[in-house]
Amino acid sequence: MDWLYALLLGYISGSIPFGLLLAMAAGKGDVRKIGSGNIGATNVLRTGSKWLAAGTLLLDLAKGFLPVFLAWRYFPQGVPFAALGAVLGHCFPVWLKFKGGKGVATNAGVAFGIAWPIGLAYAAVWLGLLAALRISSVAGMSAVVAAAIAAAVLGYMAFVPVLTAIAVLVIFLHRENLKRLREGTEPRIGGKK
Ligand code: G3P
Repeated sequence: MDWLYALLLGYISGSIPFGLLLAMAAGKGDVRKIGSGNIGATNVLRTGSKWLAAGTLLLDLAKGFLPVFLAWRYFPQGVPFAALGAVLGHCFPVWLKFKGGKGVATNAGVAFGIAWPIGLAYAAVWLGLLAALRISSVAGMSAVVAAAIAAAVLGYMAFVPVLTAIAVLVIFLHRENLKRLREGTEPRIGGKK
């Protein structure tokens, strides 16, 4: 039953909508009603507060890292399910009628929880592309794909299926961003709203 406990642990942790909660607590209102409508750090940044965005990023990372870290200790057979659960929890939180975020920051935490080299590959691609292009969605989608490739290249074969499934899900959840990218209207970080 390790897999089920790990899945539930991941889901419960991942389902906490930190971006929404932080923005509301700071009096910025419902982040789902501004910008892209997403509850992630990129959209929280659109409230105008870098601190809230940084807090969202860190907490969304932590809620992916922690269940995977705990699963290694308590449900070692279920670690891939903790990873999957965390991303599913973030993307489909029961508390928000299953309408959550896109999973990029949570999956970064998951990647570090699985193995730090995978996390480093994730962070390098994510931050590198973010610095070069300043388009959060492109950096995020590339990073989730990089994590699956890094797992395969570095020999973490048990995690290739789950990281591939997560990559497919994250890209699917970016379909509005992909449409904006095709139309040339996807906003850049620090650019005009
Ligand atoms: O992590 C979400 C990011 O990739 C895109 O965010 O708000 O621009 O849709 P957003």
